[in-house]
Amino acid sequence: MRRAVIAGTGSALPKRCVTNAELAETVETSDEWIVERTGIRQRYVAGEGETTGTLAADAARAALEAAGVAAADVGLIVLATATPDQTFPSTATKVQAMLGIDDCVAFDVQAVCSGFLYALTVADGMMRSGTADVALVIGSETFSRILDWEDRGTCVLFGDGAGAVVLRAEDGPTDPTVARGILATKLHADGRHNELLYVDGGPSTTGTVGKLRMKGREVFRHAVVNLATVLGETMAAAGLDPADIDWLIPHQANARILEATAKKLGLSPERVVVTVDRHANTSAASVPLALDEAVRDGRVRPGQLLVLEAMGGGFTWGAAAVRL
Ligand code: COA
Repeated sequence: MRRAVIAGTGSALPKRCVTNAELAETVETSDEWIVERTGIRQRYVAGEGETTGTLAADAARAALEAAGVAAADVGLIVLATATPDQTFPSTATKVQAMLGIDDCVAFDVQAVCSGFLYALTVADGMMRSGTADVALVIGSETFSRILDWEDRGTCVLFGDGAGAVVLRAEDGPTDPTVARGILATKLHADGRHNELLYVDGGPSTTGTVGKLRMKGREVFRHAVVNLATVLGETMAAAGLDPADIDWLIPHQANARILEATAKKLGLSPERVVVTVDRHANTSAASVPLALDEAVRDGRVRPGQLLVLEAMGGGFTWGAAAVRL
């Protein structure tokens, strides 16, 4: 059976790290409040010359190197972002040019914090149907550029960064208990909740980029319920039991959401990869950033079953069961 297998991972963070204490100098907040409510201690913020595109290209180069794949062999780039370098063309085509790839399929996917799960699902489908044998799936964001830095309810929660995976199409066994690669994905969207998490601008409405607005408490409530449901659906679609999960690689929005989700799955906290304390919420970049960290520090190993999940603006949410 032809499946998309993760052949390598990579990530990139901006140079500048901003602590909670530094933020408390400009908005009325405290390290204690932020840590207690979210688990966040610091975040990275893009500086001059650092964009969604440059971070994405750095993450992609690292993933290609880890996979031992030449850029010229990439047939597909799917880049998830809600903060593209330009309204058009897609940031994926900018990354393509930065990597020196003359011709391939390249486009962006916009599903905010669930973007990486959407991008992975699209790439998986295209690879199974034969569009490409090697793909780059990237999540990259510079949310610092759409934050209202005077709104303490949102500006403390987000950070910038990028993560990438190289997918390679491989023929393998059908049995999901031994097969490598993307075993199942599930995606959802419910557009009725736009006003709970959105950006108050856009090319076709205000002609401006806009700033992020969020009703945090309502988002929190939806996140816990939706994530638990989609994780169950994904495991059922893969033909696997939640007890088979080696690692949960969740979207990193809030440590309390991670704890609640793990508890609902009956998964011990040691099986959850957590980066929210150091990266904050990097939207579409958070899942591949966490994955790359856990691969590089040796926690996540070949043959293990990973479950990736995310929920974001729209609302959109999704999960993927992947054996490394
Ligand atoms: N520092 C200090 N106080 C703050 C603050 C900050 N950075 N941000 C908000 N507050 C205040 C609020 O003004 C409010 O004060 P009030 O009661 O006097 O009005 C109080 O803290 C409680 O605010 P509330 O929003 O109810 O807190 P909360 O416990 O729900 O925590 C979030 C807020 C945002 C941390 C939490 O709701 C959350 O993480 N939500 C999910 C967000 C998310 O995951 N978004 C991304 C999805 S992709």
